[in-house]
Amino acid sequence: MSKGIILKNAKVFISSELEEVDLFIKGNKIVSKVDCDGDDIEVVDLKGLTVLPGLIDTQVHFRDPGLTHKEDIKSGSLSALAGGITGYFEMPNTVPATTSAEALKSKLDTARNSSWTNYAFFMGASAENADSIDKLEQEAGCSGVKIFMGSSTGSLLVHQEEILDKILSKVKRRFSVHSESEALLLKRQKLIFNKGMDLEYDVKLHPKWRNVDVAMESTRQIMALAKKHKAKLHLLHVSTKDEMEYLKSHKTPEMSVEVTPQHLTLASPECYEAFGTYAQMNPPIRTKEHREGLWKAINTGIVDIIGSDHAPHTEEEKKRPYPKSPSGIPGVQTTLPLLLHHMAEGRISLNKIVELMCLNPSKLFNIQGQGEIKIGREANLTILDLEKEEVIKKSWLTSRVGWSPFEGLKIKGFPVMTMVQGRIAYNNGEIIGEPAGEAYSF
Ligand code: DOR
Repeated sequence: MSKGIILKNAKVFISSELEEVDLFIKGNKIVSKVDCDGDDIEVVDLKGLTVLPGLIDTQVHFRDPGLTHKEDIKSGSLSALAGGITGYFEMPNTVPATTSAEALKSKLDTARNSSWTNYAFFMGASAENADSIDKLEQEAGCSGVKIFMGSSTGSLLVHQEEILDKILSKVKRRFSVHSESEALLLKRQKLIFNKGMDLEYDVKLHPKWRNVDVAMESTRQIMALAKKHKAKLHLLHVSTKDEMEYLKSHKTPEMSVEVTPQHLTLASPECYEAFGTYAQMNPPIRTKEHREGLWKAINTGIVDIIGSDHAPHTEEEKKRPYPKSPSGIPGVQTTLPLLLHHMAEGRISLNKIVELMCLNPSKLFNIQGQGEIKIGREANLTILDLEKEEVIKKSWLTSRVGWSPFEGLKIKGFPVMTMVQGRIAYNNGEIIGEPAGEAYSF
């Protein structure tokens, strides 16, 4: 006798509509029916709740291996699970960096036993692995190549035009780019921190150091190279209205664009006044005008994906005097609550959230079996209570670092249940069973 689940009485997101239908699940799949005589059936009443295809976060940093005092795959994926995210792509700037098949395999081995949600890992590009990057990007469990064009957390960096050109001539899959110009960063560093890097400066200088020109310069460069090679460029965490304007006229059908909830929610200088170095990230949180430019780009279809850029650092590390304080804000758990908050305030629709966090991640990165609620798809589901009002509390955050700039924010609409591979793994604060996420296939 095999186990079946019937999810009853919920509104289910099917083909862009909310329909009141029963959902049948058997094993890890959505099926057309479960046999009431032959199957061991669990009926789950979801009255008043809304079921979405499982949300996928295509940009998180989990620090495993090497920096697990900040986060590991288990704590990071639990944070995803509690925030209604059913799977993630994890970034390569760990220690060691993920720049080889062995390093990727070691992450997959860790995740197999400890990831609460589904997963894939990026391969970091470097000068050393550029010749074999076409083979490396094809490894099982790899979500594609990640290029850091400007220095951020960790040692990964490819800024030389000829190496970028080589990498782009080789990659076949969608590749993801942190776009800030290293040359300008170095030049402006001397200017901004002119009394030496050892002193303490005002964190409000962060968006002045890593200014709009820094972002524009490298975005123009990588877009030109991508056009030349017809390569599938994915621009991560675009933060300026200027880049969005440029994308409006220069984005090709092969290209895709991500924004983060932090850039859509916070604004400079208020965020630095309220949160100091806790609001420091790369690329920086900018002014309201830029934030408006990002919202406009969402509403005009320039933005394809929302990713959290979950970048945990401990409070002790974040309290260091700027610029010794590390850049990055945790966010995998607060991404969906924040989007629901913006939805309640009329800035984004449920359809758009599903497009940006389910359909597009699945289509653009060619993930098998995800993205929509359909017979035969994997039963990864995000279940919401759109009426629930909840304050983001420290006690709810399961990331090892245990802080968020959004603590105290009152949210209307909240993720309440998460199903991973046909199993309810999270229900109203309760964590159920053992980690059972699986590697995505592409
Ligand atoms: O602020 C950031 N933090 N931006 C990045 O690109 C990396 C991230 C991290 O890993 O801490």
